[in-house]
Amino acid sequence: MRYTSVLSNLLWPLATTTTEYGADCSWPIFSTNFSCDDRLGDRAAEYYDFIHKCHEYGGPKGKKACDQTEMDRLEMNARQPKAMVNYTGTGFTKIKAPQTVMDLIIQHWEANKETMTEESWPKGSIYLNYWESKTYMVAVEDRNLKGAGDKLKEQIWDAAKTTIEAWTNVEIQPTSMYGIRVYTEGAILSPHVDRLPLVSSCIINVAQDVDEPWPLEVYDRQGNAVNVTMEPGDMVLYESGSTLHGRPFPLKGRYYANIFIHFEPLTRPAGDHSALDELLPPYLIPGTAAAQNWLIENPDGWNKPSPAFPAQPSDQPEGHYAAAIGDYYRLKELAQEDPESLHRKDSNGWLPIHEAARSGHTDIVELLIQHGAEKDARTGLSDNGSSLLNMALEFHGEDHPLTAFLFSIGAQDIGYGEL
Ligand SMILES: *[C@@H]1O[C@H](CO)[C@@H](O)[C@H](O)[C@H]1NC(C)=O
Ligand SMILES: *[C@@H]1O[C@H](CO)[C@@H](O)[C@H](O)[C@H]1NC(C)=O
Ligand SMILES: *[C@@H]1O[C@H](CO)[C@@H](O)[C@H](O)[C@H]1NC(C)=O
Ligand SMILES: *[C@@H]1O[C@H](CO)[C@@H](O)[C@H](O)[C@H]1NC(C)=O
Repeated sequence: MRYTSVLSNLLWPLATTTTEYGADCSWPIFSTNFSCDDRLGDRAAEYYDFIHKCHEYGGPKGKKACDQTEMDRLEMNARQPKAMVNYTGTGFTKIKAPQTVMDLIIQHWEANKETMTEESWPKGSIYLNYWESKTYMVAVEDRNLKGAGDKLKEQIWDAAKTTIEAWTNVEIQPTSMYGIRVYTEGAILSPHVDRLPLVSSCIINVAQDVDEPWPLEVYDRQGNAVNVTMEPGDMVLYESGSTLHGRPFPLKGRYYANIFIHFEPLTRPAGDHSALDELLPPYLIPGTAAAQNWLIENPDGWNKPSPAFPAQPSDQPEGHYAAAIGDYYRLKELAQEDPESLHRKDSNGWLPIHEAARSGHTDIVELLIQHGAEKDARTGLSDNGSSLLNMALEFHGEDHPLTAFLFSIGAQDIGYGEL
């Protein structure tokens, strides 16, 4: 039977610990009411220090932004798992990554690890403590890196798919791949569930240099915290939309490099023949709050899309969204229907052209300039943020086509806050 080889890889000896604890003990999961004795030390103090630093780093608007995202995290933790169909008994397990997957990833890592780029985080983001512990990327899709690009991604997806299908026992399709992300000393990752359609997922540890294992904390079906530790070449399989996961204990060591590979199931669990809701993806339970919310965000319903763009955030104007995902034709339409919308800043002081620059869509930047955007347009509600060329250099480097295009039209490299 085709699953034997996967299961014989199983390393995870579902450990029993003497220090069992549930939610809101090591870190707020559902609420900031710490519900534990002091067996883990003063976790509340660590948490409030984290939140305080988020406020400080975010500047004048930081407090509100951090508090809002933090509240969203807690709400999503409470709401989403309940709405998810589960495909496995435990929600997570650990195996050795298949050799085919490891070979592709290690080759990419070894060829490019010296040119990692710093990951940028929007102010107010509370998933990582980027304000004191930077994260870096050796991105599999970064075409500036040796051997990287869409082809490498496809290969990794293909190689990982069989393993995750064997675990979930249903057909799945790729939805997202992220990494290789490099965490550094002191990193904390707030426990969360992944946004949909990141449902059937794995984490692979690529490399690490640590003084002690850096636990991934997951919550089991009984609601208890379980520490999962990884060595390079280990693969944690987890139902990331329903299994709460994070790293609330700071990384002790130099670095920890992971890649995240995500899929979504195309059917209900094997053996579950209950009727599907016509509009909902098969992994959402009709009638739940998260399912209702999904329908509002996806009025056209789920139709087994090919690897999709991220859904448009409800607070993002359409022109910004189209520019961010590279939807050239939609922007051309908008240029007719609502030309002003291409030149209107969002509440963060960004124009659509800044989204296009961040995403590296040269064609869209050209299009917007043809429609009157300024070649040195700056972010910021007072136009004193980064210029387009500054963003292109920062996000994509000197060799990127966007950078070349902006140089060719005489754009200026003006940084944040420069006059
Ligand atoms: C947290 O504690 C406050 C005060 O004791 C209480 O009113 C509130 O209901 C608690 N919240 C949760 C989610 O337990
Ligand atoms: C799926 O798992 C999550 C997390 O363990 C749980 O909250 C949820 O109720 C489960 N779904 C069902 C249908 O049992
Ligand atoms: C997880 O690891 C942390 C840090 O080493 C430790 O304090 C905690 O007790 C562990 N939790 C469990 C459930 O084993
Ligand atoms: C941009 O200008 C605004 C308003 O004058 C000011 O509050 C803000 O600090 C400036 N930002 C930078 C980065 O200089």
